[in-house]
Amino acid sequence: MKKKIYIGVAWPYANGSLHLGHMAGCYLPSDIFARYNRLIGNDVLMVSGSDEHGTPITISADNENTTPQVIVDRYNKEHTENMKQFGISFDLFTRTSTDNHAKVVQDIFKTLYDNEDIYKKSVESFYCKHCNRFLPDRYIEGKCPHCNSEKARGDQCDECGKLLDPQDLLDVKCKICGNTPEIKTSEHLFFALSKFEKRLLDWMKDKKHWKPSVLKFTQNWLKNGLKDRAITRDISWGVKVPVDGFDNKRIYVWFDAVIGYLSASKEWAQKQGQPDKWIEWWKNPDACHYYFLAKDNIPFHTIIWPSIIMGYGNSLELPYDIPANEYLQLKGEQFSKSRGVAVWVPDILEKFDADAVRYYLSINMPENKDTNWTWDDFIAKNNDELVGTYGNFIHRVVTFTQKNYGEIPKQGKLSDLDKTALKKIEEAAEEVSGALGKCNFKIGLRAAMNLAQFGNQYFDQNQPWKLVKTDEERCATVLHICLKIVKALSVFMSPYLPFSSDKIWNILGHGGSIHDSSWKLATEELKSGAKLERPKPLFTKLALADFMTESDPFSKADLRVAKVLDVKDHPQANKLYMLQLDLGPLGKRVIVAGMKPFYTVDEIKGKNIVIVTNLKPATIRGVKSNGMLLAAEDKDGVVSLLNPGDARPGSEVYVDGIMKEPSDVLEFEDFKKIKMTVGENQEVVYNGKNLKSKKGKIISDRKVRKGANIQ
Ligand code: MF3
Ligand code: ZN
Repeated sequence: MKKKIYIGVAWPYANGSLHLGHMAGCYLPSDIFARYNRLIGNDVLMVSGSDEHGTPITISADNENTTPQVIVDRYNKEHTENMKQFGISFDLFTRTSTDNHAKVVQDIFKTLYDNEDIYKKSVESFYCKHCNRFLPDRYIEGKCPHCNSEKARGDQCDECGKLLDPQDLLDVKCKICGNTPEIKTSEHLFFALSKFEKRLLDWMKDKKHWKPSVLKFTQNWLKNGLKDRAITRDISWGVKVPVDGFDNKRIYVWFDAVIGYLSASKEWAQKQGQPDKWIEWWKNPDACHYYFLAKDNIPFHTIIWPSIIMGYGNSLELPYDIPANEYLQLKGEQFSKSRGVAVWVPDILEKFDADAVRYYLSINMPENKDTNWTWDDFIAKNNDELVGTYGNFIHRVVTFTQKNYGEIPKQGKLSDLDKTALKKIEEAAEEVSGALGKCNFKIGLRAAMNLAQFGNQYFDQNQPWKLVKTDEERCATVLHICLKIVKALSVFMSPYLPFSSDKIWNILGHGGSIHDSSWKLATEELKSGAKLERPKPLFTKLALADFMTESDPFSKADLRVAKVLDVKDHPQANKLYMLQLDLGPLGKRVIVAGMKPFYTVDEIKGKNIVIVTNLKPATIRGVKSNGMLLAAEDKDGVVSLLNPGDARPGSEVYVDGIMKEPSDVLEFEDFKKIKMTVGENQEVVYNGKNLKSKKGKIISDRKVRKGANIQ
């Protein structure tokens, strides 16, 4: 029976490019699931859009000295395009800045307010006298009470991941000006989350099918008791509050964004010319609602959004499953646009086919634990599995048959091995579909790959290249069965590899798109005599060298922010210091630096600087130096350290668009090829682009002349 499947996918903030962490975390799995459901005949509605409000956006705008509108327009456009290039098959990818969205949000807000699920309360908030404004959470920084990290934000600690209230922070500072804010009273609106505790517990009772991680996380939240939450903020960018007296406040971005799931459905219906069509998914107890997101978004989807739906009434459907993923990491660190640790989607799409990347992300998906993106493994899996096993099977079967028959040959009498092969297809169909239906994407892909591997063995064992000369009829049968496997594989793979599957579909002589066909066709009889198209290779072998060589010398260097913990005189040299550095997650280390003529101990101590971590260690006058700091020197002989602001120690220093692939050991000769200079406004420039950290441009600490060299 046709089922209504609603798929909501987390809305990416429109304040930076998408990275592979986003793709592996939610867009790819949701797309695989959507495509599978469409193939088995379900009615899928899959929506998402740009999350365009809140302080994440205003802070990005501040950093770039531009307006939030410029930022969201830029990234909404880029995300929309990237989603399409990556094959993410949204029915609608919209944005939270539409009038429709504001209307839906305000209607829900007002309804909850009238029900007294939203109420006014005076709260003490941080107020910065210097900036003359109340400070929303993300404009506050301080020490995390849980892990002691120095740079926790008012809403969350990036280091330990805990959600925070700004009042929890120790040593609070205004992020705009660095001063200590004071506390002032102002009125905010609160969502009475505590009222929903019991209903949520009830609702949770039959959620045994949730991933253990999601279930545990949510149960823990509930166990700790739900606190009412402020859902207005002191900013001017966002959805207006539909209550008098809140003109200079806006609705909290998370409250607004999750309602996007409903508003986008309504917008989609309007665009279909059937404005009520959203109701088929939203007011239908037989509809199944799935939400795809990465683990940091869990509570917003398992607690806050369901509470909003419950409070709103109107019998809207609650989530059925929330198969949240863990993180895809890069060298053991979380991908993060705010820290510049990432492989960016626009970069990767320029260099590789979407299906190649989708394959690796699928087989390496962080479904139940964090996984790592490594270039070596990407290349290996692409070459050995996608090209070597899957592509090879398809290619040899189709090429050989096309050359010798030009069409699908007739199946004759079946051997035992033939019967096994046919059974394998049936079994794979069940395994793959069983796994996909349960959102077990890796298991499904492995089952399909096993069939491809079996196909290769079957081809090898039967040696059709010999049979074609000795036993035509037998050869025809073998190839017929091989083509059956090819066809089945194209269907099984189509959720994962939408572009190449469509090509195979057409090579087999089918018109139209595989994505408009059906799962059942995977195991259906082949039409003997149907013309075969001449195939082109579907995938390409990759070599690291092809895209990394001649690559920018900058990509070999590992530049990081380091905090100077201690400064000592070098015992054997009067121009050298020994600096003890903190590199956060990368640990502590000592470097030797010739800064004594230019900086006093007090001037250096406590500073954040930029160092090359992977430079070949050198022993300088008997002291081992594990890396080198970067400094600028101009033609007047002024020497200046580089200043990465208050970026987190250990975080990366990078240049947009240059993929970082630091060598284990960087030779000094190679480092010298990286020519960095100081620009007009003290910014550090490499090849016309700014050196950056999480907190923005790296600048020279002292005023040096334009053109000063960095070394
Ligand atoms: N923009 C949020 C993030 O990137 C996700 C919002 S999901 C939504 O973490 F449901 F609220 F839209
Ligand atoms: Zn301030």
